[in-house]
Amino acid sequence: MTFKTLMMTTAATLGLTVAAQAQTVGFSQIGSESGWRAAETTLTRQQAEERGIDLKFSDAQQKQENQIAAMRNFIAQGVDAILIAPVVATGWDSVLEEAKEAEIPVVLLDRRVDSSDDLYLTAVGSDLVHEGEVAGQWLAETVGDAECRVVELQGTTGSSPAIDRKTGFETGIAGHDNIEIVRSQTADFTRSVGKEVMESFLQAENGGADICALYAHNDDMAVGAIQAIKEAGLKPGEDILVVSIDAVPDIFKAMADGEANATVELTPNMADPAFDALEAYWKDGTLPPKFIQTDSALYTQDDDPAGEYEARKDLGY
Ligand code: AHR
Repeated sequence: MTFKTLMMTTAATLGLTVAAQAQTVGFSQIGSESGWRAAETTLTRQQAEERGIDLKFSDAQQKQENQIAAMRNFIAQGVDAILIAPVVATGWDSVLEEAKEAEIPVVLLDRRVDSSDDLYLTAVGSDLVHEGEVAGQWLAETVGDAECRVVELQGTTGSSPAIDRKTGFETGIAGHDNIEIVRSQTADFTRSVGKEVMESFLQAENGGADICALYAHNDDMAVGAIQAIKEAGLKPGEDILVVSIDAVPDIFKAMADGEANATVELTPNMADPAFDALEAYWKDGTLPPKFIQTDSALYTQDDDPAGEYEARKDLGY
């Protein structure tokens, strides 16, 4: 517990009123690889402002070394907490130990790490395996007994969503021997690489005639792939089914146009539960659960995609 937090906690225990003092939070964001990421950044800034928190933002441009340097910088500044969306799952022990040593609580946002959970206050995120499983089950129900050759666009190699969404999808289609993942490659969670990789899948699979479905670990890669499918002269959503994860406005637009079939929602508002947990901790040392889980709802073309697009289009995606 930092000196400032100790003072606040002691004052609360003694029933004293202390002058409100802005808490400072360092936020190490991965970058801006997707619409979802942009929304998470916007909402985190908004939440901080609404709560009077001084947010120090650092964009890591997809590099773990930049995130580690940002964390060390936040520690040196003596911030009251650190939020981090860790780009990959491994390699965080040392810097998390340094934060713990400095008594600075760390909250993981949306992605997980393989470090001991003693090294951070809490992790806010969805059940990433479950998201993939929901996508796989949707496909299994949709194709029934028909043969289905699936191509998969993976997220950033080594990131927890790429690892877990792959595992989850495989679980979702397990026992359905008519469904087979025939090609699987990373497209780094970006629209442009999603398009490029899909182009190579289409070329390798008889111009796309041998592909029944695309599973993308996020909507941005799916949107890029939809463009590639159209340019190959096929109809996305009909000739090739499209299922992905995030529920960003652009995928609802594609669903409304019949070019995508299903998405699993990942809320970009991780900051709200994260700041709630931090404020309780700062107030009187309350420890949150080690994992604060957000919902993962499935949306299909039956769920008013045009309305969902309208409702989300101005939310910072
Ligand atoms: O970690 C969450 C993932 O990261 C989102 O699904 C993706 O869009 C983002 O880049």
